[in-house]
Amino acid sequence: MRIGILGGTGPAGKALAVRLAACEMEVVVGSRQEERAQEVVKSLKERWSGRTLSLEGAENTVAAAADLVVVATPWDGAAATAALVHEELTGKVVVSMANALSKVGDELQALVPPRGSVGAAVQMAVPEALVAGAFHHIPARGLANLDESLDADVLVCSDHAEGMAATIELVEKVPGLRAVAAGSLSNLAAIEAFTAVLVNINLAHRVHSSIRLTGFEGHRS
Ligand SMILES: NC(=O)c1ccc[n+]([C@@H]2O[C@H](COP(=O)([O-])OP(=O)(O)OC[C@H]3O[C@@H](n4cnc5c(N)ncnc54)[C@H](OP(=O)(O)O)[C@@H]3O)[C@@H](O)[C@H]2O)c1
Repeated sequence: MRIGILGGTGPAGKALAVRLAACEMEVVVGSRQEERAQEVVKSLKERWSGRTLSLEGAENTVAAAADLVVVATPWDGAAATAALVHEELTGKVVVSMANALSKVGDELQALVPPRGSVGAAVQMAVPEALVAGAFHHIPARGLANLDESLDADVLVCSDHAEGMAATIELVEKVPGLRAVAAGSLSNLAAIEAFTAVLVNINLAHRVHSSIRLTGFEGHRS
């Protein structure tokens, strides 16, 4: 499966790109500038030179032509970025991982974006796409380190059965991640906002923790 990542040149997109490529997926790292995406891919390949990673750097439009597309831009660019490539996204599963956060003093605080969550705003911008939300709580640092094993739950939301199923399938391809179906896109407001809590915990304790639900052992999504 070919995965495209819009805004794939930042810490979150790069981390997801290498992790998915390490799981034998073809990944297109998207950017507003093709050269920037290509530089990022070059550095990722150099960093992981002992591994065979199918990574390509391209403009966001090319990334949007993949089978499944992830939106990994800052929150305030997510809906507009998706809208720019709406034709490529029609009928596709589009996974939003963006969180609306703002630095206030020493803390990151959750914002309430238009439509209540970034994922809902992305769905509004590309109504013909099957938008899902996932990966909000996975710190880029751990995700990017292929020598580090993962151990986390990924809450997945979507208003579309196909969007939910394809996103769960994607998450479950990554060893150490368990997908948990977490309802409709309306739940993304709480999921995205909780990222602020997690980031502040991680900053205060100098860790890169994520979440694991208890009482869920043995259950699949
Ligand atoms: N960092 C984490 O640990 C983490 C974990 C989970 C989720 N997230 C979420 O993932 C998203 C990306 O995080 P990040 O830390 O990678 O962010 P970032 O570095 O600030 O941005 C990612 C990329 O988005 C592009 N971009 C920047 N501003 C843009 C705009 N206004 N419109 C369109 N594209 C823009 C840039 O790529 P080009 O200049 O190459 O186009 C940039 O490299 C955020 O919403 C964040 O909340 C982050």
